[in-house]
Amino acid sequence: MEDYGRFLALLASALLVGFVSVILSLVWVFHYREGLSWDGGLGEFNWHPVLIITGFVFVQGIAIIVYRLPWTWKCSKLLMKFIHAGLNTIAMILAIVSMVAVFEFHNAKNIPNMYSLHSWIGLTAVIFYSLQLFLGFAVFLLPFAPVHLRVALMPIHVYSGLTIFATVIATALMGITEKLIFALKSPAYSASPPEATLVNCLGLLLVIFGSLILWMASRPHWKRPPAENAKILRPIGATPDGTEVESTLTKSSNADKSDLRSNTEAARKQNIKTFDEAGQRSTM
Ligand code: HEM
Ligand code: HEM
Repeated sequence: MEDYGRFLALLASALLVGFVSVILSLVWVFHYREGLSWDGGLGEFNWHPVLIITGFVFVQGIAIIVYRLPWTWKCSKLLMKFIHAGLNTIAMILAIVSMVAVFEFHNAKNIPNMYSLHSWIGLTAVIFYSLQLFLGFAVFLLPFAPVHLRVALMPIHVYSGLTIFATVIATALMGITEKLIFALKSPAYSASPPEATLVNCLGLLLVIFGSLILWMASRPHWKRPPAENAKILRPIGATPDGTEVESTLTKSSNADKSDLRSNTEAARKQNIKTFDEAGQRSTM
C-alpha cells in the first residue's frame, strides 16, 4: 500500500478522536446533565446525543472506511461486505433508538415535534440512511442484481454515503448548539461556562473525525484493490477456485453471464473500461 504509514497515522487519529468524542458525550450527560434514564425526562433525552455520537457518527465512520484497512484485503469481499453492512446496521439501530428517546421526551413534556431545522435535516438524513442501507443490501449483498446495475449504482452509493455522513455531522453540530442555548441559563452559554467549553470541544472533535474519515475514504490509492475484478474479467472456466464473485455471478441474469463469459480480447478491454468508469470499485 502506498503511504502505509500515513494511512495508519490517520486511522489512529480517527479512532482516538472518535473514542474521545464518545467519552466527552458521556462526561457531558453524566457530569453536567441528568445522566441516562428511560422515563420521559431529561435523562431520556440524553440518550439522543450519546447514541447519535456513538452510533451515527463513530460506528458509521468506521463502517465507511472498513474496506480500506489494508490487513483486510486478504479477506474475502463477501466477509467485508457483511462487516460494512453490519456496522451500518448497528449505526442505524442506535440512531433509531436515539430518535425514539427525543420524540418520547418531547411528547412527555408537551414540546412540539419537528419544528426546528435540526430536526428536519436530521430526519431527512435518517430516512436517506435507511434507504441507502436497504439498497446496499438489495443491490450489493443479495445475489439478484445484475452486474450492470451494480456498476451503475456504485458511484451513487459512494457519493450518497459520504454526503449522508457529512450531513449527520452537520446535524449533530446544530443539535449541540441548540441544546447548549436551551440548557445553559445561569451562567448563560454566552458567559462560556466550563460545560460550554467542553461541549464546544466535542463539536470540534466531531468535525475533525468527519474530516479524517472523508479524507481516508476519498484517496483513490487507499481503496481496496480490485482483485475480485480480475477474477470477473477472467473466463469462468479458467478461474482456479469457486469464488464468491463467481458464485454470485452465476446466479445473475443470462445476459450478464454471457457478457462476462466472453473471452475475447475486445470484451476484456470493454469490461476493464466499464470497471474503470465505476471508479475501479469491485461491486461484487
Ligand atoms: C431534536 C434528529 C443529533 C439535540 C431532534 C429531532 C430530531 C433529531 C428528528 C426532533 C424530535 C422531535 O421533534 O420530537 C437528530 C439527528 C442527529 C441529532 C438525526 C444526528 C445527526 C443531535 C445531537 C444533539 C441533538 C448530537 C446534542 C445534544 C437535539 C435537541 C432537540 C433535538 C436539543 C430538541 C429540539 C429540536 O427539536 O430541535 N433531533 N439529532 N441532536 N435534538 Fe437532535
Ligand atoms: C462502499 C457507504 C451500506 C456495499 C461504500 C463507500 C461508502 C459506503 C462511503 C465507499 C467506501 C470506500 O471507498 O472505501 C455506505 C453506507 C451504508 C452502506 C452509509 C448504509 C447506510 C452498504 C450495504 C452494502 C454495501 C448494506 C451491501 C453489502 C458496498 C460495497 C462497496 C461500498 C460493495 C464498495 C467497496 C470497495 O470499494 O471495494 N459504502 N454503505 N454498502 N459499499 Fe456501502
